[in-house]
Amino acid sequence: MVPEEMAVTQKRERLDPELEKIARADLKQLGDIRIDDVLSFIDRGIENMPSYMDLYRRWESQQWSVGDLDFTLDREDWLKATDLERKSTLWSHRLFFNGEERVTATLAPFVWAAPTPEIEIFLSTQMVDEARHTVFFDRWWHEVVGTDTRNLGELLVEIRPDTNEGYNELFYERLPATAQRLASNPKDFDAFVEGITLYHIVIEATLALTGQRFELESMRELGNTDRGFYRGFTAVARDESRHVNFGIKVLQEAVREDAARFAPIIQKTLVECLPLISNTLDPPDPRYITEYGHTESEILQFAFDSLNKRLRAIGINLAA
Ligand SMILES: [Fe+2]
Ligand SMILES: [Fe+2]
Repeated sequence: MVPEEMAVTQKRERLDPELEKIARADLKQLGDIRIDDVLSFIDRGIENMPSYMDLYRRWESQQWSVGDLDFTLDREDWLKATDLERKSTLWSHRLFFNGEERVTATLAPFVWAAPTPEIEIFLSTQMVDEARHTVFFDRWWHEVVGTDTRNLGELLVEIRPDTNEGYNELFYERLPATAQRLASNPKDFDAFVEGITLYHIVIEATLALTGQRFELESMRELGNTDRGFYRGFTAVARDESRHVNFGIKVLQEAVREDAARFAPIIQKTLVECLPLISNTLDPPDPRYITEYGHTESEILQFAFDSLNKRLRAIGINLAA
């Protein structure tokens, strides 16, 4: 019993040298790393699924500090930026900043509802990550944009995205409602599966990683990979790749255990959320995307291609 299980959980995950480099990169080295290579962890995860404790160990070795970032060059860019560049950056960063705080606020019920101690441990690491991501944007805002607000609460009110219905429904209705369901009944595993679909697959894998991918690629195309934001946001994306690996694993195991029970829950949640994803990724001014050499349809295509890859790994499809 125990000794053998211990031996299994202690066994270290083996990575090939290229992935090992990304897995171990510090903040400075992350400036030399492409977001697509970071995202390749998720696909590797699909072919060769890490255990929950592998993901925990990755978290231990991938610590980083918001306080180590330097936003001096970012501030210089900001002062030189055009009105359109500022508006487009603020549009994206308001969604991210507020979103990171929302996912920090709603994860605790998932920890309580975790069906196994390994899942509980991994989700606890994720709570710390989401808090750190919120602090990352707080610091960026203070040092690059500037604000007169006196605390984080006031700043979050100031930056809350106010025009996006899809976003509001995802982050202010569906996500808190799911967290409340889990808090009210932590033994409700159907609610847990629905919650992981919403949180890890819709919000993190499809929305967040798509937004991150295009913003980081645009920065790289402009030669801005030495900026504090590029390094920090790449570290955020590496954290998100662990979270997405985790979400895929939970749902894959649920579908393997009882497809007739869990596949319809996952499919229904996704079908309801698809229009909210497109709505959230739709900027108020198309130039926020086209100015950087991309198109909205390219971004949506990337989002839905990523989603389809995750679904194949989970073992379901969306065909009606
Ligand atoms: Fe996050
Ligand atoms: Fe996350």
